[in-house]
Amino acid sequence: MGQLPFSLEEYRSRQDRFLSKYNEDTLVLIPTNPVRIRSNDTSYPYRANSYMLYLCGWKQPEAVFMAFHDSGIWKSCLFVQPRDTRAEIWEGRRVGTEGAASFWPIDEAFSIDDMEQIVQEKISNSYSISTIIGFDKRLDDMIDKSNLEITDARTILDDLRVIKSDEEIKIMHDAGILASNAHVEGIKKTYAGIGEWEIQSIIEAHFSINQSCPSYSSIVGGGDNATILHYNSNNMVIDDGDLVLVDAGCEISGYASDITRTWPVNGKFSDPQKEIYNLVLKAEKAAIEACIVGSPWSSIHHASSKVLAQGLIELGILECDFEEALGENFNGPYRNFFMHGTGHMLGLDVHDVGGGRQGDNGPERLLSPGMVLTVEPGLYFGSWRSDIEFPERYSGIGIRIEDDVLVTNEGPVILTSSCPKEISEIESIVGEMIEG
Ligand code: GLY
Ligand code: MN
Ligand code: MN
Repeated sequence: MGQLPFSLEEYRSRQDRFLSKYNEDTLVLIPTNPVRIRSNDTSYPYRANSYMLYLCGWKQPEAVFMAFHDSGIWKSCLFVQPRDTRAEIWEGRRVGTEGAASFWPIDEAFSIDDMEQIVQEKISNSYSISTIIGFDKRLDDMIDKSNLEITDARTILDDLRVIKSDEEIKIMHDAGILASNAHVEGIKKTYAGIGEWEIQSIIEAHFSINQSCPSYSSIVGGGDNATILHYNSNNMVIDDGDLVLVDAGCEISGYASDITRTWPVNGKFSDPQKEIYNLVLKAEKAAIEACIVGSPWSSIHHASSKVLAQGLIELGILECDFEEALGENFNGPYRNFFMHGTGHMLGLDVHDVGGGRQGDNGPERLLSPGMVLTVEPGLYFGSWRSDIEFPERYSGIGIRIEDDVLVTNEGPVILTSSCPKEISEIESIVGEMIEG
């Protein structure tokens, strides 16, 4: 039923830092994810809510973390599924209330069947509730009827989750290494005419055999498919002469890695492919160098954008000057070829909490030691794009290079550095493990 990835002390310290932000008359209620149906009566593999994993490592469904102040101290509890042999025969063994109280970082455990009655009692002694709405309908209904002031617990939890502890960083580094090794295996087993699904299988088999799983739907796009940002059909044969873009990360103890490499299936970059690849690589390196403590989040995107805009001019793809190419607020015509952000926070969610993504509101975060983020510039020249113009030689090229980066006082540390990204390194290993 799974061991906890962290010590009880680490979870207690997270809870202490979280609960210390509240007044003593607050009732804290953190639900987990519901089971989601895939088809008729079969469900997707269950994944607990990341806030639940962060606070107490509870992985089973139908659970609520509750905390309240009692006789001068905060007490934390879990409502969990009770032991039930009939249910366990079908769905798997449950930890139950006794197991939860004995081995999880909480003071008391109750059956989820008693939640309504117990929460109702606590509500009558509280002045406000801090929770996350939208995950547990029963809980939402009770909170709705309470008439108490409601605050969103995520505003506090997100700030805590942004800075990773040494123990979290160790797991995230392991996830980075595992995903890097999986990509290397994919590169080494690639040949002209391989199916996108075959590369996906090689990479995901590497995750499985190491008791991991994908942290998001793997993207394996050959040729033009690499120009579809969220492509994941992965069902086409990749022709000789085409590149393949592989964006595939894994999860260890709930923590994600997220890595992209792009390589030629026949082992040799063509000249136009090389030109675009080297430009994206230069932008990626500039953006990684910008991951400096104290810099604003946007400095990473600005660093990659400047390199890409200048490079697009030099390659004759943009016929304007640098200022015009960048445009106001970095929204100039270079965005026709680089349409996404340069990165996002990484952690228990692949697109982790704490802001930083394009479109987020609020004040910009400054980079701090312990943040983990992705750096992932790309350039895309879909042959199907009738709305923009570019030289024919670049048609059908889509390239992204993505690494996971830890911000430290000593400078950026690349958690996925064991996966090669220089052209010469990649060319020397494509197809290395193909027999015959
Ligand atoms: N794999 C999703 C992303 O790169 O953001
Ligand atoms: Mn990615
Ligand atoms: Mn990413």
